[in-house]
Amino acid sequence: MVNSSEQSVGSKRRVTILGSTGSIGCNTVDLIERHRDSYDVEALTCHRNVDVLIGQARKLKPSFVAVGDESQVETVEDALAGTGIEVGAGREAVIEAAARPADWVMAAIVGAAGLLPTLTAVRRGAMVALANKECLVCAGPLMMAEVAEHGATLLPVDSEHNAIFQVIDHERYDLIDCITLTASGGPFRTFTHAQMTSVTPAQAVAHPNWSMGAKISVDSATMMNKGLELIEAQHLFPVGPERLKVLVHPQSVIHSMVSYVDGSVLAQLGTPDMRTPISFTLGWPRRIAAPSQRLDLATIGQLTFEMPDPERFPCLRLARDALQTGGSAPTLLNAANEVAVEAFLNGRIGFLDIAKVVEDVLNVGELKRLTTIDDVHDVDQDGRRLAKTACERMSRADRVA
Ligand SMILES: NC(=O)c1ccc[n+]([C@@H]2O[C@H](COP(=O)([O-])OP(=O)(O)OC[C@H]3O[C@@H](n4cnc5c(N)ncnc54)[C@H](OP(=O)(O)O)[C@@H]3O)[C@@H](O)[C@H]2O)c1
Repeated sequence: MVNSSEQSVGSKRRVTILGSTGSIGCNTVDLIERHRDSYDVEALTCHRNVDVLIGQARKLKPSFVAVGDESQVETVEDALAGTGIEVGAGREAVIEAAARPADWVMAAIVGAAGLLPTLTAVRRGAMVALANKECLVCAGPLMMAEVAEHGATLLPVDSEHNAIFQVIDHERYDLIDCITLTASGGPFRTFTHAQMTSVTPAQAVAHPNWSMGAKISVDSATMMNKGLELIEAQHLFPVGPERLKVLVHPQSVIHSMVSYVDGSVLAQLGTPDMRTPISFTLGWPRRIAAPSQRLDLATIGQLTFEMPDPERFPCLRLARDALQTGGSAPTLLNAANEVAVEAFLNGRIGFLDIAKVVEDVLNVGELKRLTTIDDVHDVDQDGRRLAKTACERMSRADRVA
């Protein structure tokens, strides 16, 4: 994974941020502004949050900005007229942003929509800071093969995988007993099943420790996020699914651990602020300063741990099963989850329906080997279609009741 198209340390790094207007994107922009002399910005992209994009473009002066939703592009063209910044619109423009010559690309688009742009950066051998876990979940084997083929460097941004990346022996997986992904447990960690039946989107997106986009916040609340991370971990650090563990750690101080055959356990710790892992990838292979609050263990006092409850959080089990099954199962799981989370956020299904939709889709979706990105696309579309049908059924049943 660390093939490295190693750009010489000390020279200015040219960077692109895919999804610059989201939570990870804005944190990345924040760090670049703090290290303005070390980075030039090639491209920024958004979907429809054009006001934030315009503000970022004025500050960072990229060569190119892309707006995914074409209906919003005129506002950006008008606002950036005369600045010399090129403006593109639509999916192709987002892909063009990834294709442009940047040494380092932050892949921070949410969901499978980030797959082709991320692959585009991988295919030109770039250093890719990977936040978009869904693209590894839905196309992991193909994506890792492309990373190897094109000599790209994949640097994990997810705090757990970034922690593992920092403490794992990249050469000797045979010396590893297991990898433990820590999980905060989300906002409903202590809720009973009955309490979870009536939780609202506002409650689900209010994560106790991390400030994140809506989709990943809901994924944390269902613990699907940890399931997606198990799949992501298997692609990044292929030690085998049976050696990947999950441990609930509500304080989110230990970001993950690697246990070695001699009994040593190496962990990375820090306060829950994504600017720490992002800065690790932005500076890699050197560290750069990040403004994250410093860790003060004496004030925190206690770190606690518990096993995840598979009864109340079935998404974790569904993701582990999909990982074991392989082939199209993780792609179906991801597509169904994206549709179900959106339906929940729009008030069309209940919180507990998310896992039911995913399970339904995994039960009826076609299981097959995926050999091309077109196969991934087809399975993703099938999963979405099946999930929409399941959501409609559940929302009708809800109205009748
Ligand atoms: N937030 C975190 O702390 C965190 C931690 C670990 C991993 N991650 C992962 O990082 C990724 C981004 O998460 P986030 O929390 O930053 O999400 P977010 O706040 O929702 O931001 C998502 C970004 O993707 C853009 N986008 C959405 N749909 C798009 C589409 N169809 N085409 C092109 N661009 C699109 C959004 O543009 P608009 O703003 O214009 O809608 C925004 O820039 C996710 O895969 C998540 O799992 C996030």
